[in-house]
Amino acid sequence: MNIKSIISGCFAMLLIGCSGSDDSAMEPPPGNGGNGEEVTYSGDVKAIIDNNCIQCHANPPQNDAPMSLVTYNNVVDAVNNRGLNTRINSSSNPMPPTGLMSQSNRDIIDAWIEQGLNE
Ligand code: HEC
Repeated sequence: MNIKSIISGCFAMLLIGCSGSDDSAMEPPPGNGGNGEEVTYSGDVKAIIDNNCIQCHANPPQNDAPMSLVTYNNVVDAVNNRGLNTRINSSSNPMPPTGLMSQSNRDIIDAWIEQGLNE
């Protein structure tokens, strides 16, 4: 009897503990160093674009790239209208064309988009 109530008590606490932490567990802090900070264009995304995309997506664009990715608005437009997120995660048609960026770079951009494209 005693043992039973102790066990079921613990079990209930476990359940509460689990469901209480669900909200944060569902949205893990993204890959910006894993510190859970907000991902921003100026703080996180711009450096990745500058290092991986700008040699073609400059202003004016080079090497037959169709648009520039130089400003915040350029990149937001490419996310909303040009499938940027799909292309940087596409193994058959990747951007950059030479091959996918590191998982952590892609995670940062994915998180940035999920968080609402903070400038
Ligand atoms: C070596 C040059 C080069 C680099 C580097 C490069 N791109 Fe591109 N990109 C192109 C070319 C050329 C096209 C047009 C042909 C195509 O869609 O594959 C293109 C097309 C795209 C498109 C589709 C545009 C549309 O309207 O269909 C997106 C989105 C894109 N690039 C994003 C990026 C991102 C983001 C990076 C960096 C992570 C990047 N690209 C790096 C050359 C490049």
